[in-house]
Amino acid sequence: MIRLDGVHVRHKARSGGLLRRDAVHALTDVSLEVGRGEILGVVGESGCGKSTLARVLTGLQKPTEGDVLFHDRDLWRTPAAERRDRFGSAVGVVFQDPSTALNPRLTVRQILRDPLDVHRRGTRAERENRVEELLDLVGLPGHTLAALPGRLSGGQRQRVAIARALALEPELIVADEPTSALDVSVRAQVLNLLVDLRRRLGLGMVFISHDIQTVRYLADRIAVLYLGRVVEEGPAEAVGGTPRHPYTEALLSATPSLLEDTERIVLTGPVPSATHPPTGCPFRTRCWKADDECAAAFPAPAAGAGGHRWHCVHPQPAAPPAGATASGTPARSTT
Ligand SMILES: Nc1ncnc2c1ncn2[C@@H]1O[C@H](COP(=O)(O)OP(=O)(O)OP(=O)(O)O)[C@@H](O)[C@H]1O
Ligand SMILES: [Mg+2]
Repeated sequence: MIRLDGVHVRHKARSGGLLRRDAVHALTDVSLEVGRGEILGVVGESGCGKSTLARVLTGLQKPTEGDVLFHDRDLWRTPAAERRDRFGSAVGVVFQDPSTALNPRLTVRQILRDPLDVHRRGTRAERENRVEELLDLVGLPGHTLAALPGRLSGGQRQRVAIARALALEPELIVADEPTSALDVSVRAQVLNLLVDLRRRLGLGMVFISHDIQTVRYLADRIAVLYLGRVVEEGPAEAVGGTPRHPYTEALLSATPSLLEDTERIVLTGPVPSATHPPTGCPFRTRCWKADDECAAAFPAPAAGAGGHRWHCVHPQPAAPPAGATASGTPARSTT
């Protein structure tokens, strides 16, 4: 359905001299695909380029280099009016913080009607019906239609934001950390709503989070971003179960699942800067396996089953033999 092909995004840095502004390498050579009805989870730590990727996927950010293809049509070679019209309605977006994403002066009814009005969908009566349908879809009671966002709870506001993203019957929803601003107690409800909507509406989804366990729970496929690069990608069971990139392994061990007894890998070494990314593998400055070979070039992809791929010259073993002890790893402590 949507495909990124060799996408780079470079921002002008706020640092650097007046004459020679540095470039922030927010995304470097990213190629990804989301199929119809599929959930792609994107995971990585703060500043790795997740929101930039969300903006590229929703057509809000034009890549510095590379292509965005929607049903094999090049988004940025499509005339602007058609791009807004077709792509704008086919891709919905849900942001992190529902309290800033919703206009505080509009009622929920007005918020949900707005995209229908802008895209001139149906008659007046049909739009009214659609608004009620949307409210029902996200499990909010009818009386919320008259409320202003300020009168709703965080979880309810995020449901309104999801309903708005669904208004134009999109094929794809891009959700950028949709639960991280919410209370822990309502996070699961919002996650389950998204899973349920995918099942009922056959939506494709890109779910972005810094928490690999959440992504693992939700996604069909996982892409792991590190300093603007996809370092590993593949089926959720493969990436979450037998990660091959050391960074993925470290992420998994930092947030142990309740079901597995994992050892905790503590990353040492400085987090590199996106203005001056390291040569070769971007993770090598913090990787316990790094050697000279890692500094030479960004590793070519290696491939496993089901389209699992990773970029590492010293990958983790395919399946750790039962009872094996970790060797060659840094300070590890059992949690
Ligand atoms: N408009 C901009 N101008 C300059 N630099 C930017 C701009 N937007 C993002 N960046 C930089 O690009 C990099 C990626 O930012 P991005 O917001 O995509 O990261 P993120 O993974 O979403 O982080 P977080 O988890 O904190 O939300 C960062 O180094 C950030 O400082
Ligand atoms: Mg972000």
